Amino acid sequence: MAEHVTITYNGTAFELPVITGSEGEKAIDISTLRQNTGFITLDPGYANTGSCISDITFMDGEKGVLRYRGIPVEQLAEYSSFKETVYLLINGKLPTTDELNEFSILLNDHSLVHEDMKSFYQNFPRASHPMGILSSMVNALRSFYPELQTLEEEINITVTRLLSKIRTMAAMSYKISRGHQVVYPRSGLLYCENFLNMMFHTPVRPYKLDRAVVKALNVFWILHADHEQNCSTSAVRLVGSGRVNLFAAISAGIAALWGPLHGGANQAVIEMLNTITENGGRIQPFIDKAKDKNDPFRLMGFGHRVYKTYDPRAKIMKKWCDKLLAKLNIKDPLLDVAKELEEIALKDDYFIDHHLYPNVDFYSGIVLRAIGIPTNMFTVMFAIGRLPGWISQWKESMDDPNWKIGRPRQIYTGPNKTDYIPINKR
Ligand code: ACO
Repeated sequence: MAEHVTITYNGTAFELPVITGSEGEKAIDISTLRQNTGFITLDPGYANTGSCISDITFMDGEKGVLRYRGIPVEQLAEYSSFKETVYLLINGKLPTTDELNEFSILLNDHSLVHEDMKSFYQNFPRASHPMGILSSMVNALRSFYPELQTLEEEINITVTRLLSKIRTMAAMSYKISRGHQVVYPRSGLLYCENFLNMMFHTPVRPYKLDRAVVKALNVFWILHADHEQNCSTSAVRLVGSGRVNLFAAISAGIAALWGPLHGGANQAVIEMLNTITENGGRIQPFIDKAKDKNDPFRLMGFGHRVYKTYDPRAKIMKKWCDKLLAKLNIKDPLLDVAKELEEIALKDDYFIDHHLYPNVDFYSGIVLRAIGIPTNMFTVMFAIGRLPGWISQWKESMDDPNWKIGRPRQIYTGPNKTDYIPINKR
């Protein structure tokens, strides 16, 4: 008999099948639970709930493992490019040379943004956060690129449009916020190079591409490319399950990523390191604040729902952070503060007992600063990197033969039936 678990309630036993993943992960399939028993499960924050079966990304939080389509992220960071990793995530296999060339051509062909969108940017208040702008603009793309006829056309064209235009839109937003002339994408440049050129080229100071910067950006985006069912990806799947268009689902993902407990942590880390520096550089008071249950402060860039050891992405990021700063001859005082903070926290019983280690956001901000990205755009950089993950997860959910609209249940604890009292009698 297939593996199963038995639950017993009031002397009646119910059998539930066990599902085993390709890495030996186990789940109890409760999809018939309510129908057969009347019960639902309760799992705040979905910490024990699998929302789908997926072939895309594997993580082992206890061992610090992350693989895209089976390939360790360490190997991709070392040898692949972001564009190739995007292809891998979305198509499920590494591309041949011809396939990669064809993909590059498609990305180039779709890199321009409709000129009318420029006026949208110009009308956002100056103080708008770039994540709010990006989320709105991605949603607005649907009005410029309306419904396509078939799902296949939708997937191929919309996916390429989004992957290519998101860079242009992010750079455009930066240029317009600074009052600078917008720089258009150039077909002779590769994916990351094009973005850097659109961000930093000016007519008076042509941008000089540096191989170390281009490599660091590739690594940054590869490390962010997917992370299975995290908060923003779950938002994309859930919103997508109502069968909205891809732009709307991705826009929801961007909004979810914005939060400081999620993708917004990279900005929050730099702000925290700055505050430590401005307060004389003493680290212990911040460690004490983070441990104090009556203080809402947390060490930003520390802790993770799944990783209970060092986040493998943080390890790679730290290595590239050191390499990049050395190559560019930059001495960033925040890096010294970050390293000292990490050293103290990793020896502290509170952080040891709670299994709190640096996550990907801890060193990524220092890499982005070295590249020249302004702090309020850090989470936009994360969003560009995460886009292929969101798209591949959305695509997988569209193809799922067991697809259902996402609709969790609840246990109601409000008042029992209460009659309405007219206002003059209350
Ligand atoms: N600093 C201090 N204490 C922490 C931290 C932290 N960064 N993170 C978790 N804890 C403590 C909590 O206070 C709690 O303590 P308790 O059990 O004694 O009450 C315990 O560790 C568990 O914390 P939860 O919030 O229940 O853990 P959860 O898995 O829900 O949260 C999260 C994970 C949100 C990432 C959390 O660790 C956090 O807030 N970290 C800081 C923000 C951050 O860096 N976010 C980026 C995550 S990576 C990403 O999204 C890209």
